[in-house]
Parts: sequence; structure tokens; C-alpha cells
Amino acid sequence: MSVPSIIEQKIDRTKLSEKIERMGRGKMEVEVTMGSGLLESATSKRQISKHDDSKSLFSRALRVAPGGVHSPVRAFKSVGGQPLFFKSAQGAELVSVEGQRYIDFCQSFGPLLLGHRDPEVTEVVRETLDLAWTFGACEPYSLELAEWIVDRVPHVEKLRFVSSGTEAVMSALRVARAATGRSRVVKFDGCYHGHVDSLLMKAGSGLADGQAATDSAGVSPQLANETLIAPLDDLDRVADILKAHASSIAAVIIEPLPANYGLLIQRREFLQGLAALCRELGILLIFDEVISGFRVARGGMAEVLGIRPDLVTYGKVIGGGFPVGAYGGRADLMDWVAPSGPVYQAGTLSANPVGMRAGLATLQKAERLQIWSALEERTAKWVDSLNSELHSRGWHMDRFASIFWLRGYSEQPVRRLSQLPSGHAEAFRTVFHKVLDRGVYLAPSGFEVGFVGWAHTPEILDEAARILRDSVKSP
Ligand SMILES: Cc1ncc(COP(=O)(O)O)c(C=O)c1O
Repeated sequence: MSVPSIIEQKIDRTKLSEKIERMGRGKMEVEVTMGSGLLESATSKRQISKHDDSKSLFSRALRVAPGGVHSPVRAFKSVGGQPLFFKSAQGAELVSVEGQRYIDFCQSFGPLLLGHRDPEVTEVVRETLDLAWTFGACEPYSLELAEWIVDRVPHVEKLRFVSSGTEAVMSALRVARAATGRSRVVKFDGCYHGHVDSLLMKAGSGLADGQAATDSAGVSPQLANETLIAPLDDLDRVADILKAHASSIAAVIIEPLPANYGLLIQRREFLQGLAALCRELGILLIFDEVISGFRVARGGMAEVLGIRPDLVTYGKVIGGGFPVGAYGGRADLMDWVAPSGPVYQAGTLSANPVGMRAGLATLQKAERLQIWSALEERTAKWVDSLNSELHSRGWHMDRFASIFWLRGYSEQPVRRLSQLPSGHAEAFRTVFHKVLDRGVYLAPSGFEVGFVGWAHTPEILDEAARILRDSVKSP
């Protein structure tokens, strides 16, 4: 319901927000105090739009940023409506600029293994801010994080820190091309690796021959020649493509847990077969663990699967919520990177001390409290119990470790997007807005996964389960 402009102007937004916060999540009806007295009861209790401030901020943002955002999915295009603006976050919760609280399963798309502003990480960040923000020179903080990783993750013999997952992938491909003297890279239909030009590709003339076509304006069509596209979950097809082009392929890159077009959990045998094929044909295997690294286990999917990739890329959890990425792997390959070798790659803010220390504090806490196994158990319990009610309503939740995906129910697992029941995006859109209205924030697209973090206590998960169950009921 729209609020008369005169009242709108007179509402003290701060007090209003505090009241909404006190009344708790999902309560929209508030008493409005004007000046010194209460309005007549008939008018004092009114529906105040939960999104008024977000709306006006978004119209300002549209003037200064393309689509009003700095990363496309934030614009709510796939769920419709206008994006919410958030002013703060703590633990498992987000607070909108209107003061509404939401249980957050987007978790900034994955970096927040411990939740927002974990107290231990906060302390380390504060401490670091008092020491330095950036050096552009050698410092001990990146050394400590690098040693922590190299000492624990056997397939990472050396690594280089960068500032995003995209940068990590782009650099790993450069190393692979340099070390093999070949130019082509194979990617899988249903995996995303950031906005690297040569990977913004889709299947060209279908998936039959592996040909790629550009998937974004501005990517040179010539680059499509550098990329081959393979199907997930079809080792025979993959073998055909690899064998037909082996002499020109530098590397195969895969999300070992594809989590960018839903959660397309692959069979272990498929990934083991892929690794064996790469070995047999002398093609490098790159695991893109930007989402799964330090999320599904300390050693990521490589550890879970017992597969040793030649190179691996990280982002998200490794920086504890700050802009950090990394690529690493076999020492002989990483020694191709400048200044050891001829592959140029550099970064002004690489190994930023705040990100390095936030990342290390996150990983140390996760290790100390055995958070990976505890979170997996907690999430499994939650998802299993939800599924027992969701199935009869035509919904299903996939899960791997602490990552989940809400989708339409199907008899068979969905390992490729083409196996997804039709109408998913539209059905998700309805559920997204229903749960949002009741105080649960899912990532604003039916193809994004959700994350359970250490801050999602069993009580919070119970509350979210109730809301999810109620929201997928027939309208
Ligand atoms: C698997 C994977 N690789 C690479 C990227 C790119 O990372 P960034 O957004 O930090 O550039 C993402 C981002 O979601 C990702 O999920």
C-alpha cells in the first residue's frame, strides 16, 4: 500500500526502522508516531512498504551504474521486482535499508563460510586495519596464508594470490597454455568460471562436436576457436572431443562440483574418468574450486574425490569475505609464472593484508572447530527433513556439503541442465518472493545455489524451514 506523501515526509525513518526491528522479522504492520502524539487508531496502524527506501535507492543507482548494479544477478532480473538494498549484516542475517531482517542463504554467493562478520574474523580484520591496508611490497600475511594452504592441500605445491576468482581462472589458463605450448581449453556446458573472455562461450552447433560460440557481446568471435565445449556426465562424448583435438588442447577446466547453473552433482566415476583421460592424453586438468574450495572440505572437491588436479583455482572462502582469489598447483607449472618464469601476471592489490588475514582466520577457525564436517551434518539434517515435506509439493532440494539448490522434483538426479523439469525459473520466482516476504533471502535466481554457514544455527534453520515449507504450499 502506498503511503501518502505528507506522512512519508514526516516519518522519522530511524525510529521507524528501530520499531520494525523490535517487532521482528516479517512483521509489516507498525504503529507510526507523528510529532508528539499517536495518530487515530484507524490510521496509526498501516502497512508500510518494506521496500520503499530500496526502491528510491535503485532509481538513483540506475542513473549511475549499468542496470543499477555492479554485478548482474543483483538486479533481480530473473526473479522480477526491484532489488533490496541492505545496510548491514551479522551472522546469518541481513538488514535491509528499511530495517527489515532476513535470514540470508545467499551469503554473498559463497565466501562466508562462518557467516557475516564472524567475531573472531572481525577482531583480526580490526587489528589488521591498524597495521596496514596495503603495502605493494613483501609482507608476512600472505606468506602465512600460503603456508597454511601448501602445508595442508597436497596438490597445491605453490600458489599465487590474486583479487578475484575470474583473475585466478584467467591466470591458470595462461600458465596451462604456456606450459603445454597449446592454445585450446575445454570447458563444460553447465559450468561457469567467471568472465574470462575465452570461457564466456556456449555450445556452438549443439554439443555434438565440441564447437563453441561466444556467449557475451564484446568477446571476439575468433576466441571461440580456442574453446571446446563438452557435456557434463557423458564420459564417452568427452573422450571423443578430447581425442579428436588432443594435440591442440592445453587444459580441461571443470567445476568439480558445478554450482553455477543450479547444483549439478557429478558422479565420482565421471570425474575420475575425466582425470584419467587427461593423464592419458597429456592434457592438464584444472579444477575450478572458486565455490567448492575450503567450502566442501579443507582440500575442496579434490580431497573429497581423491583426484589430484594439475592446477586449481580458488576465490570466495579463501578471503573470508574480502576480495581474494588464488591459483596454484604443481610447482613445475607454477614456476612458469613471473618472476620465476615467462608467464606475466601481476596485481596492485594482490595479497591484500586484510583479505589475507581474514582468510587465514576463517580457515583456522574452520579447522579448529571441524566446521566442514559439522556443517555438512547440520545441512544434511536440514535438507533431508525439508525434502520429506517438499516432495509431496513438487519440490526438491539438492545438497552437497553445505551447499543446496531448490528446484522442481524429478525422479532422476539432475546432472545436466537439460534434465531440469521445465518451468523452473517461473516457479522459483514465485517462491523467492514468498519467502522474501516472510524474511528469508535466497539468491535472486533459480539457478544460484544457497549456502549454509556456521552462523546458521539449528534454530535459525528450523525457522527458515518453516518459512520455506509454508511458501511452497499451493497458493
Ligand atoms: C566456479 C567459479 N569460478 C569463477 C568465478 C568467478 O569468481 P569472481 O566472481 O570472484 O570473479 C565464480 C564466481 O561465482 C565461480 O563460481
